[in-house]
Amino acid sequence: MSRIAGVITVLCVGVSLVVGRPTSLGKRASAPTEHDPKFAVSVNLNGVTFVNKGLVGFGLIPSDFVESTGDTLGGIGSAIAIKPSSFKPNGDGTFGGTLIAQPDRGFNVDGTIDYQGRQHAIDFVLSPYYGDDELDFDDAQETLALTYKSTFRYTERNNVPTTGLDALGVRAAQSGFPSSPLADPQMPIPNSSFSRLTLDLEGLVLNSDGTFWISDEYGPYIYRFDGSGRLVQTIQPPQAILPESSKGNIDFTSDDDPDTGRAGNQGFECLTVDSAGTTLYAMLQSAAIQDGGDDKSTSRYTRLLAYDISNPSSVRPSLTGEWVVPLPLSDKDNTLAASEIHFVSSNVFFVLARDGDGHGGDDNNSKYKQADLIDISKATNIAGSKFDSSKNPIAKKGKLDSSIIPATYVGFVDFVDDDQLARFGLHNGKPADATLIDAKWESLALAPVGDAANPHDFFLFTAADNDFMSTKGLFDGEKFDAGLDVDNQFLVFRVTLPTATSV
Ligand SMILES: *[C@@H]1O[C@H](CO)[C@@H](O)[C@H](O)[C@H]1NC(C)=O
Ligand SMILES: *[C@@H]1O[C@H](CO)[C@@H](O)[C@H](O)[C@H]1NC(C)=O
Repeated sequence: MSRIAGVITVLCVGVSLVVGRPTSLGKRASAPTEHDPKFAVSVNLNGVTFVNKGLVGFGLIPSDFVESTGDTLGGIGSAIAIKPSSFKPNGDGTFGGTLIAQPDRGFNVDGTIDYQGRQHAIDFVLSPYYGDDELDFDDAQETLALTYKSTFRYTERNNVPTTGLDALGVRAAQSGFPSSPLADPQMPIPNSSFSRLTLDLEGLVLNSDGTFWISDEYGPYIYRFDGSGRLVQTIQPPQAILPESSKGNIDFTSDDDPDTGRAGNQGFECLTVDSAGTTLYAMLQSAAIQDGGDDKSTSRYTRLLAYDISNPSSVRPSLTGEWVVPLPLSDKDNTLAASEIHFVSSNVFFVLARDGDGHGGDDNNSKYKQADLIDISKATNIAGSKFDSSKNPIAKKGKLDSSIIPATYVGFVDFVDDDQLARFGLHNGKPADATLIDAKWESLALAPVGDAANPHDFFLFTAADNDFMSTKGLFDGEKFDAGLDVDNQFLVFRVTLPTATSV
C-alpha cells in the first residue's frame, strides 16, 4: 500500500468521527478511533520494542452452525489465513476481507471419524473497538461480523477423498510421494475408505497462485494442494521427526507414541511462510520423543524447520534451516505447547503457546494463552546435522545439548487478560457459559492497519478450535451430541511490529 493510501485512510477515520457511526452501534457512536495508550503492553526482543495495543475485535460463529455440505461447522480455528488481496479498508474506519479457515479431523465424541479435509471461506467486517467501556456480549460481536460463504473439500490423487481416521496403515513411497499415512484398511467402514490418505490438518498457507500448503500431525507432513483441493506434493521431514519404532519401522498412529520422532498428536501444528512466499516454516507442537517429548515436564525443546519453496516445480524442496525453540513452561514446569506460528519479518515469528483450559477445556480458568515472539537470528541452524537422526537427540530427557543455541523467546500478546476480555463482554474462569473464552486457540493471521501515522501497526487475528462441541451436531447426515455447546470464537488484536511494515 502506498503512503498516500495510508493518509486517505486516516482522513476517512477523521470523517467518520464527525458524522458518527450508525446508530446500530449504540454506545460506540462516540467511541475513540485510536487505541487508548493505557492498554499498550511493550516487550523487548533483541533490542526491538514490540507493542500490543490491546483487543480490538471479537466475533463468533455459533456451535450449531451447519456449513454448505450439511455438516456442523467446527474445528475451524485449527488454521486460518486471510485470502490474498482480500483485506481492504472500507473508508469509514472499518475493514473487510475473507478468512479461509481449515478444520482438523472432525468431532471427538467417539474416536477419529471419516472426516474429509476441507476449507471454509468466511467474509468479515472488522470495526475496531478502541474504547474503555465494557460492551455487552451481543454488541461486542459487531466488532468482527462474520458471514460464512462456502466450503470445498480435499482429495488426493485420482479424486479420492481424504479422511481423518487414525493412521493405522502405511502406503509405501511411490511416484514422487514419500510413504504416507493411511486409514486402516481393516476398519469396518465403507470400502471407499480403503487405502485412503488420512490427514489431521493443522496449518494453512495460501499461495498467490491459488495452490496452498497444509501441515498435519500424522506424518507429520506438509502437503500442497491445487486450487480445487487436489493433492500435488508431499514434504517428508528429516528422520529424527518421523514416528518410528526402535527397529526403524514407521507407524503413523496418533493413539500411541512412537519410540522416536514426533509424539502422538504433537505433529506439525504450526505452518507459515515468509512475505516473499519463498520459504515455508513448520514447527512441531512440542519436542520429539528422543528430545524429551514423552513427558510434559521435559518436552519444551521443539523444532522449527525451513523449506525452500522458491521453485514451485521442485518435487523435494530442500531443508534450509532447523532451529530449536524453547517453549514456555506452566507454573508446574510443564510445557505450554505451540499451536501456531506466524512469520513477522526475517528471523522473527509469532508463536501461539497455551494451556488447554477455558470453554470446552479441562478447567474453566486458563492461565496461559499467548501469541509470543521468537527471534532465531542467534540460534544454531542444525539442518542437515547429526541431529536430523533420531540417534542424536537435541535434548535428551529434556536437557538441551550444550552445542545448540535455541531461539530467543519473549511473552507478548496475552489472550486471557481480564480487563481486555471484559471490554468485549468476555471472561476467563467461572462461569462456563458462552462468554467464557474458548480453550483451544490454534491460528494466527496478520493484516496491515495501513495507518501512515503508525506504519508498523497490524491487526492480529486468531480463532479457536472448538472441537466441534455442539449438542446439536450433524455429520454425514447423522446427529451427534458432544455434551456441550462451544462457539467458534475469533479475536483481533492491534499490534506494532517495528520489523514489519504495513504501509
Ligand atoms: C466397494 O467399492 C466398489 C467400488 O466403488 C463397489 O462396487 C462395491 O460395492 C463396494 N463394496 C462394499 C462392500 O461396499
Ligand atoms: C466450570 O464452571 C462451571 C460453572 O459454570 C462448573 O459447573 C464446572 O464444574 C467448572 N469446571 C471446572 C473443571 O471447574
